[in-house]
Amino acid sequence: MKKILVAVDGSDASLKGVKAAFELAEPLGAQVTLVTVVPPIILPGDAPWAPMDEINRAELQRAERVLSETLAALERSTLDVSTQVLLGPIAETLSQLAQTEDFDLVVVGSTGKGAVTRVLVGSVADRLIHTCLKPVLVIR
Ligand SMILES: Nc1ncnc2c1ncn2[C@@H]1O[C@H](COP(=O)(O)OP(=O)(O)OP(=O)(O)O)[C@@H](O)[C@H]1O
Ligand SMILES: [Mg+2]
Repeated sequence: MKKILVAVDGSDASLKGVKAAFELAEPLGAQVTLVTVVPPIILPGDAPWAPMDEINRAELQRAERVLSETLAALERSTLDVSTQVLLGPIAETLSQLAQTEDFDLVVVGSTGKGAVTRVLVGSVADRLIHTCLKPVLVIR
């Protein structure tokens, strides 16, 4: 196992996922990539007046912040860690990246930021285990 992808949305569950990935990566000397996906914003009608560039820029910046805050919440490690922000449908974008960059494992939290009580598996985690062709580890 040389490359581990971790899906990060800033939730406690995804932070747990990062910690689990670090634990796995350390003895294996694996590379860890933290990825936050910005989903496309759907506006009512075609809303030609919407400042899409500005909205996307703000969302991408927010995603960068989620990643840097996640890294800041962790203890320093000697691991090879990188981060990436991508635009697209969340689960599909993660699945595609896992495939095209040949990751050995995808780590995801069972729930995320949108956690509604009593939901055991969020929609992103659920979609990922159904669409990803690489092994997926769901952390609770
Ligand atoms: N935008 C995202 N980018 C990267 N990973 C994400 C993103 N959203 C969710 N995840 C990953 O999926 C895990 C589960 O989150 P998910 O979104 O499925 O649950 P939820 O937010 O509780 O429910 P829902 O989004 O369906 O309301 C998170 O812990 C995180 O690992
Ligand atoms: Mg969510």
